[in-house]
Amino acid sequence: MSTPNTTHKRLIEWVNGWRQLCQPNGVYWCNGSSQEYQNMLDTAVKEGLAIKLNEKKRPNCYLFRSDPSDVARVENRTFIASERQEDAGPTNNWIDPKELKATMTELYRGCMRGRMMYVIPFSMGPIGSPIAKIGVEITDSPYVVANMHIMTRVGTKVLEALGDDGEFVPAMHSVGKPLAPGESDNGLWPCAPLDKKYISHFPETREIWSYGSGYGGNALLGKKCLALRIASVQARDEGWLAEHMLILKLTNPQGKVKYITGAFPSACGKTNLAMLIPTIPGWKVETIGDDIAWMKFGKDGRLYAINPEYGFFGVAPYTSMESNPNAMRSVEKDTIFTNVGLTEDKDIWWEGIGYAAPGKLIDWKGREWDPKTATEPAAHPNSRFTAKASNCPAIAPEWENPAGVPISAFLFGGRRPSTVPLVHQSFNWNHGVFIGSIVGSEVTAAALDLKTGTVRRDPFAMLPFCGYHMGDYFAHWIKIGRKTNPENLPKIFYVNWFRKNAEGKWLWPGYGENSRVLKWVFERCDGTGKAVETPIGYMPTVDAIDRSGIENIVSDADIKELLTVDKQGWLKEIELIKEHYAKFGNHLPAELSAELAELGKRLSKI
Ligand code: GTP
Ligand code: SPV
Ligand code: MN
Repeated sequence: MSTPNTTHKRLIEWVNGWRQLCQPNGVYWCNGSSQEYQNMLDTAVKEGLAIKLNEKKRPNCYLFRSDPSDVARVENRTFIASERQEDAGPTNNWIDPKELKATMTELYRGCMRGRMMYVIPFSMGPIGSPIAKIGVEITDSPYVVANMHIMTRVGTKVLEALGDDGEFVPAMHSVGKPLAPGESDNGLWPCAPLDKKYISHFPETREIWSYGSGYGGNALLGKKCLALRIASVQARDEGWLAEHMLILKLTNPQGKVKYITGAFPSACGKTNLAMLIPTIPGWKVETIGDDIAWMKFGKDGRLYAINPEYGFFGVAPYTSMESNPNAMRSVEKDTIFTNVGLTEDKDIWWEGIGYAAPGKLIDWKGREWDPKTATEPAAHPNSRFTAKASNCPAIAPEWENPAGVPISAFLFGGRRPSTVPLVHQSFNWNHGVFIGSIVGSEVTAAALDLKTGTVRRDPFAMLPFCGYHMGDYFAHWIKIGRKTNPENLPKIFYVNWFRKNAEGKWLWPGYGENSRVLKWVFERCDGTGKAVETPIGYMPTVDAIDRSGIENIVSDADIKELLTVDKQGWLKEIELIKEHYAKFGNHLPAELSAELAELGKRLSKI
């Protein structure tokens, strides 16, 4: 139990209201201390929900195993409950807000019996930054509290910034598993069944109500719920951008710096690109953020980005010292692992970690797992690490600059085994918005309820994260382009690390080698960088991509294939884009249908 260290009346009343409805054992106001963090993990260990890892090998690290029904975001249970259905648009699930609140109120009634209610004041972005926003999450999960400590800035300092009547986004969360008197979790991850999970957003009132899931973006409400779904609505109303984008700092051998963001769908390479170690001599990449960017215009008319988060909730499988050494170093200590394998000496292991499993393991379901006989992976494909950004060796010194960093380029991309070349650049802003709007990607394991492997449209990598009508979101992007001098706008690129050859092998080695593409992007922003005009945009000449040292991995024929316009593929693509666009009806900006028509005309000429 603790008393609120605040005189913010609305906040105290909001908490009291939920306390009466949810009937917890008590209310604890989080102060953000390291002792508090430790208490959360000790509680979880005592309940059998967490395992402390080998202190010598992984100091201050813990492993959690979730319920198999609760391993990722659940898109079919995620709702945008705007007053009017039309405002949620065709890509979001909608329920009338009154009906949804009535249903959820009954679910919340008594849902925290036998548990503590935690109140987490948190800041998305450096406290005091003009781009930052404050939220307050109520939760009954110590796992959520501990993760929020890593992922956001938490505690008393946030309440101080909030003052007596500051603005905050109220974010309500319960795992939806009350305990009977004397009952305890007894080692079982608490959550509600799938059809009782609700991840709800009320865009007009800027509220979040989440029930029944304890996992990732469903439960750490600062992340996708606040920083994307609610923030995208605020950004529309206030003239800025809230995007599913990494932010990186790229320095060339002469010491010149450019900041670049990239929007790729979930599990399509943002964390990897943000932490990349260039394979080309003299170039350097440093990390500003790996998942979300908030951008506002500065006085100079350029867009400045902050990373609203404080840590990384990264995909574990296939993270290795070879693919992403900076991520591996970030998880050496102070890390929470969820749904990875456990070794006999209490360390972690996952598929693609870069070495064979050191003997028998315990898999993510808590069963014995023998590398010789295993038929299923030891780590869930969406198993994750929660690590402090400050523990990342590549973190840029200015990553907490409250003013943000000026952005020179936006990258869009996804997993496209065919058609989309390694890289091309838009002719101008509107053409760039068109490119963002048509991005498609093979579905990954980051959402529980989708079939992996099939290509779906994921415009701006925002399909599951846009808090309003996607057609209006496109229009907002068009409008942003008119707010400043065109020279001030970031240049826009479409990248694809995931092209495959006829044998189904990657045509491009990816990871650190992506620095070769970043180099071309840098040069294009500088007005150098050789390119040819093609029907789909500016494409690097074959010699414009630096292949020194990898000529035997990416042959002349490979690079040609990676950098040609596949006319037949694009003609098919146009038909798919038409279907995609048809969904948006009269909300589709005329500028985008014009871009599509122009693309068709240009293609017909080759
Ligand atoms: P979210 O956290 O879900 O938003 O994902 P993310 O976009 O940050 O993806 P992440 O960097 O974690 O990468 C996801 C998967 O893609 C991992 O299994 C990576 O190994 C793989 N991956 C990342 N970059 C590349 C690349 O350049 N080439 C190939 N082939 N795979 C990559
Ligand atoms: C994603 O799915 O894009 C993630 C993981 O970054 S989660 O926080 O669960 O949304
Ligand atoms: Mn993400």
